[in-house]
Amino acid sequence: MSWVSVTVDVPEAESEWIQTLLTEAGASGLEVRDATNLSLPSVRAPAKGEAIVIGFYDDQANVDEAVAAVKAHLPSAPVLVEAVVEQDWSVSWRERIKSVSVGRLWVGPPWEKPNAPADKVCLFIEPKMAFGTGDHPTTSLCLAAVDAYLAAHPGCSVLDVGTGTGVLAFAAKKLGSGRTVGVDNDPVSVELAKECAEENGLSGLELSGKTLRHIDGVFDLVLANILANTLIELAPLIAPKVKDRLVMAGVLVHQADEVKQAYRAQGLETAGDAVEGEWIRIDMVRGR
Ligand SMILES: C[S@@+](CC[C@H](N)C(=O)[O-])C[C@H]1O[C@@H](n2cnc3c(N)ncnc32)[C@H](O)[C@@H]1O
Repeated sequence: MSWVSVTVDVPEAESEWIQTLLTEAGASGLEVRDATNLSLPSVRAPAKGEAIVIGFYDDQANVDEAVAAVKAHLPSAPVLVEAVVEQDWSVSWRERIKSVSVGRLWVGPPWEKPNAPADKVCLFIEPKMAFGTGDHPTTSLCLAAVDAYLAAHPGCSVLDVGTGTGVLAFAAKKLGSGRTVGVDNDPVSVELAKECAEENGLSGLELSGKTLRHIDGVFDLVLANILANTLIELAPLIAPKVKDRLVMAGVLVHQADEVKQAYRAQGLETAGDAVEGEWIRIDMVRGR
């Protein structure tokens, strides 16, 4: 038998229990899509307040057991059993990576080099195990903010919190930022960001896994494309680093007020939003 997936749409509160049931029924792997996991644009996302839990099986008896267990626990939950289509992943994941053009910037994978526009500032990001190839709405919303801010403030200092591949820090540097710092708490991302900086001919960037407590100084522009709960948690550390403007993303529209409130409490003022689909970018400034 080839692989079969069992997909269950559930209220978020039931997600962990369903994960346990699918695992106990013999799942070889699990995929969970919820508010804390950013979904790829090409993948079906859960409805608001819900999660999608998918178990993968290579044995029909296990599939039957999984379906029976879910139905016994949550009779109303929609359960979808599907054969997993064999794919040539080396081709299919490449097809999903799209180049993006935002203001003066163009970001794409290295194999798109021949198609890179000559009149844009181009960045090439090899998709590996770090977030930030440019085509996620949260990243492109931030790229637009970087483009606009650098146009008005050439030479400004930039801090990118949760730098991932480094894409936002690179965009700032390519557009003429001064001191540019990128930090990430994932060591793999930091290594990849360093590699990627080199591949883009960028030097002088400070890329590290340092915590904000160990980063000196304040920055004209602070970028933070992280999830809402992390942004709220980090507000007392991020806000003091902002000399002029803070740009936040990774926030769903319905989470925006809570995030803004956390930063207002730290003395910042709202300066506008930008929305793409379910995602919102929040701009704030240091109060005068
Ligand atoms: C959504 S990705 C953003 C990547 C890139 N900046 C972009 O805009 O495409 C969020 C990044 O934040 C990092 N991250 C999450 N929590 C963090 C924390 N507490 N401190 C630093 N980085 C964090 C993750 O490892 C991930 O690389």
